[in-house]
Amino acid sequence: MAQTYKMALGDAAGGTQWELGTKFTELLAEKTGGKAKVDLFPNGQLGNEQDTVNDAAIGLLDFSVLAINNVTPFSPTVGLLTMPYVIQSPEDAKALTQGKIGQELVDNTLRDAGVRIIGWAYSGFRVLTNSKRPIESPKDLKGLVIRVPRNEIMIASYQAWGVNPTPMAWSETFTGLQQGVVDGQDNPYITVSAMKFNEVQKYVTNLRYIFSLEPLIISESVFQQQTPEMQKAILEASKEATAYSYDYLLATEDNIKKDLAAKGMVFTDPANNEKEWIEKVTTAVWPKFYASIGGKDKLDTALTVLGR
Ligand code: MLT
Repeated sequence: MAQTYKMALGDAAGGTQWELGTKFTELLAEKTGGKAKVDLFPNGQLGNEQDTVNDAAIGLLDFSVLAINNVTPFSPTVGLLTMPYVIQSPEDAKALTQGKIGQELVDNTLRDAGVRIIGWAYSGFRVLTNSKRPIESPKDLKGLVIRVPRNEIMIASYQAWGVNPTPMAWSETFTGLQQGVVDGQDNPYITVSAMKFNEVQKYVTNLRYIFSLEPLIISESVFQQQTPEMQKAILEASKEATAYSYDYLLATEDNIKKDLAAKGMVFTDPANNEKEWIEKVTTAVWPKFYASIGGKDKLDTALTVLGR
């Protein structure tokens, strides 16, 4: 008899979470000769992203794909991956998640949160969107209410840029933007498109402060209940789906950006002011979080791995 698993996705169908989950599902069916089936529940149907970590930890949920910033509250060392301006390209994202550093973060998450990271969706840089006006430099943020996840590093980043952001669960964000409770938020192009944020947001600033990484997690108690053959199939399928996710991002992001422009979004590049955006957060935010990511040397090692 086929075994059916449940996978939670915080985003709507069609984004990078969906692509990773769908590819994983196909590969797992293939590798088990149809013995494993995965039902995907997009759009936060199984709870907001942070709740899915708790549910997986206690074995109520099998799989979840969620943004890394929503894992950080449960396992602070993964905050390394959301330290502003550390990851500066998709290659950097791959180097940090798939090498020795990535393995250490996977081990820490297992220890701290009871969930095992088995794959990654690569979703691109988080860009800032808002409904009011073009934002070029941090001072333009004044007076805007920006939604952020409940993530201390992201909250501190906006504070360093001079505003107090509003922490809000992902599942409430579209409605918050639509009703004007918040004016803006940041997420990658692919997510903005999948969530149809273009219907409630007009201006986009090409910030590159955080590259969105979205781990595929499995409940450790569920993983331990699987036969060795099923565990092997799950690990292989997630590894291959990760490689697929990286290629998917590179192949689609530009077209999605063009599509958002065609739908009326207006883009601003902070190029001339990027130095100001970068300096404000690297000086104010990095030192604040050395302790939570396991010490300054963790950041230094990451920068060395990235050739900086
Ligand atoms: C968030 O902003 O809470 C997440 O990045 C949303 C997502 O998972 O796409």
